[in-house]
Amino acid sequence: MSAQNQGWSKVEAVKSESRFLRGRIAEELGQDTSSFDENTALVLKHHGIYQQDNRDLRGRKDISEEGRAWIMMVRVKIPGGRLTCQQWLGLSRFAELWGNHTLRITTRQDIQFHGVLKKNLAALIRGIQDIGLTTLGGCGDVVRNVISCPAPIDDGGIRDQLYEDACRISRHFLPRGGAYEEVWRGEVKSQVELGPAEQVEPIYGTNYLPRKFKIAFALPDDNCTDIYADDLGFLGIVENGNLVGYQVLVGGGLGVTPADKSTFPALAQPVAFIRREELIPMAEAVIKLYRDHGNRSDRKRARIKYVLADWGMEKFRAELARYYGQELVPPPPVVAHRVDTHLGWHRQADERWFYGLYVESGRVADTATARMKTALEQICERLQPSIRLTATWRLLICDVEAKNRSLVESILRDHGVPLSEEISPLRHFSGACVALPTCGLAITESERALPGILDQLEAELARVGLTGMPICVHMTGCPNGCGRPYNAEVGIVGRAKDRYAIYLGGSVVGHRLGFLYQNLVPRDQVATVLGQVLEVYARLRSDGESFGDFCARLGAEGLRAAIQTG
Ligand code: HEM
Ligand code: SF4
Repeated sequence: MSAQNQGWSKVEAVKSESRFLRGRIAEELGQDTSSFDENTALVLKHHGIYQQDNRDLRGRKDISEEGRAWIMMVRVKIPGGRLTCQQWLGLSRFAELWGNHTLRITTRQDIQFHGVLKKNLAALIRGIQDIGLTTLGGCGDVVRNVISCPAPIDDGGIRDQLYEDACRISRHFLPRGGAYEEVWRGEVKSQVELGPAEQVEPIYGTNYLPRKFKIAFALPDDNCTDIYADDLGFLGIVENGNLVGYQVLVGGGLGVTPADKSTFPALAQPVAFIRREELIPMAEAVIKLYRDHGNRSDRKRARIKYVLADWGMEKFRAELARYYGQELVPPPPVVAHRVDTHLGWHRQADERWFYGLYVESGRVADTATARMKTALEQICERLQPSIRLTATWRLLICDVEAKNRSLVESILRDHGVPLSEEISPLRHFSGACVALPTCGLAITESERALPGILDQLEAELARVGLTGMPICVHMTGCPNGCGRPYNAEVGIVGRAKDRYAIYLGGSVVGHRLGFLYQNLVPRDQVATVLGQVLEVYARLRSDGESFGDFCARLGAEGLRAAIQTG
């Protein structure tokens, strides 16, 4: 592979000239500036760091001459979302020292720090490394955090095996060029030691992948990781209580560029069955196929879903078999059919308990009304639980002795943190991407707007007699789809300042894409528009029919007709 290839995007040249992800990071870190050069920022993504600016302050000349207040987002990559108590306490402290005093749980079981100044970046990354965690590959054109259900449910050890496999995959696909250790710890590898690409990065080569690559593990009766939204998925096949292997799914990805009609959201599709021991060879085959055939000229069409769409399933499977070195076993006809939020108290296999805590859009903070961050620190200091992150923005407080359950609850209450049981099912299933003020791509509000919209939706549900109805609402501040709006029951997607596209008809399980119901709806009318649909849902739904199933059955035209006939 070579960046000299005709027509490749500029990012390809930056990667191939970066000496395996070193670029000018170390040099620029030593300079007394508040931001990195544009090309260095591209390399930095592979170290889990996004250069951003505070959008609330953009344009203010009293901040800087260019009117930008530069800040970094730092993403800690946590395979399967499992943390020790000490790691949680460490992260919580770092947010005070070097972040914006909050921790953001993401739908990839990462923890994000926001608002990190360039001068504090090295201290933060070293701190993260010192507690046994990494940001390497948190962002960038590599395998991102590998996700897997974190709940310590009494399931005969099935989820632990999925977790082991997720960690194996995660380790195997970490960048190997040594840039991370060199830049942040000063452990310098000489150019001689670096050697040719086949030795330094035998999987990725000099150009890494065409774009990001996401891998998820799930079980048919618990798709809390939303396996259908990932580039590569492993759906556990359990027979007689044993994990016999995986259904392999390929080609999920929700990002779209509305102006480019050749882009679209897609759900992952089953391509094969593998036994557990074939996991790494299969993952390597898929990733190498993507490395060689993904689009490196147009980053909007660089995901593996477009390789699959352009080739069709038959050719894709034939090519994959070539990379795999043997025939593919057809996938078993299994579909994920349930999602568990894991909220509230549940018994673990070892008789202890875990508590699924509702965290609004994953933001752990101390606010005027609820001091969740401090409450969690106290729970960690007094009970030493392990902490796990879900892929639905929530957090599990694990390994709690039965006798300490009331202490957990009282610490939360004393800090004004509502218990999950006091939160409506609508909120349990809902969440928003970060968007303003940190995300550079945000067109409009998301995380800061969702709570108000949910308040209004709760009122609409009460009005039509559906209080307590679980409906999954995902919101984003632009069409990129980070909050997974396109397969949710309700997707609210920012399209212009304070205007949103409303998608309907997806599902809680995430196995169906929604359709565009109405575009450019002003923010203050989103709940009203949805209220009209809820009204016909209350009237016309069949027994036990979910909101997503109902909308999918009627379609956009059917819903409009039903609303008109009142
Ligand atoms: C062109 C497509 C995309 C671009 C350029 C992009 C870029 C970004 C950026 C800049 C952030 C950081 C926001 C912040 O924390 O300040 C972010 C967050 C995130 N993105 Fe994306 N993204 C894209 C598509 C997607 C898609 C399709 C998914 C998943 C289906 C996704 C998953 C996430 C997640 C999980 C976060 C963390 C925040 C959260 O949980 O809401 N991204 N993305
Ligand atoms: S969906 Fe858009 S606004 Fe939201 S985090 Fe992703 S890129 Fe930013």
